[in-house]
Amino acid sequence: MSKAELKIDDKVIELPVITGTENEPAIDISKLRAETGYVTLDYGLKNTAVTKSSITYLDGEKGILQYRGYPIEQLAEKSSFLEVAYLIIYGELPNKTELEDFTSGVTNHTLVHENMKKFYEGYPQHAHPMGVLSSMICALSAFYPDILEPEMDKKSLDLNVQRLLAKSATIAAWAYKNSIGHPVMYPQNRFDYSANFLYMMFAKPTEEYEVNDKMVSALNKLLILHADHEQNCSTSTVRVVGSSQANLYTSISAGVAALWGPLHGGANQAVVEMLQKIYDDGGATKENIDKWIKLFKDKNSGQRLMGFGHRVYKNFDPRARILKKAADEVLNELKVKDPLLDIAKKLEHHALNDDYFIEKKLYPNVDYYSGLLYRAMGIPTEMFTVMFALGRMPGWIANWIEMSQEKQPITRPRQIYTGETKREYVPLNKRG
Ligand code: CMC
Repeated sequence: MSKAELKIDDKVIELPVITGTENEPAIDISKLRAETGYVTLDYGLKNTAVTKSSITYLDGEKGILQYRGYPIEQLAEKSSFLEVAYLIIYGELPNKTELEDFTSGVTNHTLVHENMKKFYEGYPQHAHPMGVLSSMICALSAFYPDILEPEMDKKSLDLNVQRLLAKSATIAAWAYKNSIGHPVMYPQNRFDYSANFLYMMFAKPTEEYEVNDKMVSALNKLLILHADHEQNCSTSTVRVVGSSQANLYTSISAGVAALWGPLHGGANQAVVEMLQKIYDDGGATKENIDKWIKLFKDKNSGQRLMGFGHRVYKNFDPRARILKKAADEVLNELKVKDPLLDIAKKLEHHALNDDYFIEKKLYPNVDYYSGLLYRAMGIPTEMFTVMFALGRMPGWIANWIEMSQEKQPITRPRQIYTGETKREYVPLNKRG
């Protein structure tokens, strides 16, 4: 094992160097404070690996993303969402029996407790569905208190995993129905996961509803592409909350909250809102596109090209590549003409040829095209981040399980204090 040396004043200490299975090197500083009294400062944890993990590998420079070793391109092409969920959570692709058992387990838990249905009456009609999803997932812990057992056996854990995967889709679709004042549609277990979700979103008790296979297949792909992405903001949040031994539902409800922000999962909603603003401002004309590109490059404008840039991908985001193709195909197949897609393509072309974006290594990320696909499927803008959350569920679950089973210590970072040093209390009548 090689070592790194750190010299502080006259003292030299050796730090072990460890490497992952894909040869990514890291300096292990776990004994640094004990041996030197020093801590490290790393805003945004840009240089810090917070855990070892065997779930997902990504190489931001080469644009590689693999779940449990399988390339995302192959999974998106060949798998179903629940098959990928099984892979991410349990580590191996399921055989036929395992897949059937897992699928029927999830399918049999799609109903939510009737008392939870009453919760929707308490939310304002226009409540953002991410707030509803986060709070309702947290509330699942009240309905399934077996999750509070400190030492859960495998059977009980598997059951709660299936409950969470199944019920979150129902909760999400019902949040949408509530927002438009329509009766909720109960899940239909004859459908697979994606078809059932579309049914709960778009069917009405007054009409026959035919599930569109092209939409099912596009949704399946979108969910797979979002299923995990190693230690991003929401997954780290799930691990941080779970490290206090908070239960699975509570930890994942915190992950949903973290995902909501526009710099993370909220970007897919922000992309379409930005494209709409550009459309209203003059559309895809050369002058208008030039004007907006200029705004995106100007820090004082408060505008960023949403759906561009990534903390880890500094070459291209392989998910964006798959989605760009899928967006073209689905819009064609569904015969949707979307002027926002034209604007998105022109912006992308300009940005990819502009020095600012080239130098800063800013490329389209997964959110650049996902919103356009959701829009083509009739999913309303406010639901976009909810779709991301449903896709990311297997990744959050797998990370929570890995963290719990490895019995990792509670996450409790340090800080560099920069406030006042000790001073005496001043009575109220003596303060200026
Ligand atoms: N448009 C214009 N300038 C940008 C953009 C952008 N989209 N992204 C980064 N920059 C500039 C930024 O101003 C900074 O410039 P400088 O070095 O001169 O100060 C430089 O590029 C580096 O940016 P950063 O914010 O320090 O980079 P980061 O790694 O902390 O942030 C990011 C990554 C994704 C938050 C950021 O690129 C961003 O805000 N993108 C737009 C929001 C977005 O699409 N988010 C979805 C991320 S992918 C899905 C997910 O994981 O949730």
